[in-house]
Amino acid sequence: AAQLPEGYQCRPLRRSDYHDGFLDVLRVLTTVGDVTEEQWDERYEWISHRNDEYFLLCITDSASRIVGTGALIVERKFIHNLGLVGHIEDIAVAKDQQGKKLGLRVIQALDFVAEKVGCYKSILDCSEANEGFYVKCGFKRAGLEMAHYY
Ligand code: ACO
Repeated sequence: AAQLPEGYQCRPLRRSDYHDGFLDVLRVLTTVGDVTEEQWDERYEWISHRNDEYFLLCITDSASRIVGTGALIVERKFIHNLGLVGHIEDIAVAKDQQGKKLGLRVIQALDFVAEKVGCYKSILDCSEANEGFYVKCGFKRAGLEMAHYY
C-alpha cells in the first residue's frame, strides 16, 4: 500500500479549507468559478448534514496546504437488496505534487470508506487519458459514460 510522504496527512474536508487551497486544487480538474466564502459556507453546511452520504477527503502537505482531494458519494438503491453504490468524484492532485502516489492514496482512502459503509461497488467516469491511473488503483473499464448537459 502507498504511504503518504513525511508530514502529509489525509483527512476529511473542513469548513476552513476555503482558505487552505481546496478550490485551487480542484482547478487542476476543471472550471471552479469564483466561489465566495458565503457560498462556500452554504454548500459546506448542506454537505455536512449528509455525512453518511458525502465523504470529501483532503491530502495536506507538511505546511498544511491542500495538495490533493477526492469525494465519495454513497447512493442508496432499491435494487440488489437495497444495495449501496459508491460514486467516486472530483479526484485532483496539485500539478506540482503529481506522481507522488497522492492520487492513489486518495482512491485507496475512498475505497476503504466505501467498503466500510457497505457499498458493493464503486464507480467513476474518467477520460481515456486517466484510464491507466484508475487501472493502477484497481478499477477496470465497465460500461460507457453518457451525458446530457442543460
Ligand atoms: N495514465 C497512466 N498512468 C498514470 C496516470 C495516467 N494519466 N497518472 C498516474 N498514473 C500512474 C502513476 O505512474 C503511478 O504508477 P506506478 O504505481 O506504476 O508508479 C500510479 O498511476 C499512481 O499515480 P499517482 O502518483 O497516485 O498519481 P497522481 O498523484 O499524479 O494523481 C491524477 C493522478 C489524480 C489523475 C492527477 O494526475 C490529477 O490530478 N490530474 C488532473 C485532474 C484529473 O484528471 N483528475 C481525475 C479526473 S476523473 C475523476 O475525478 C473521477
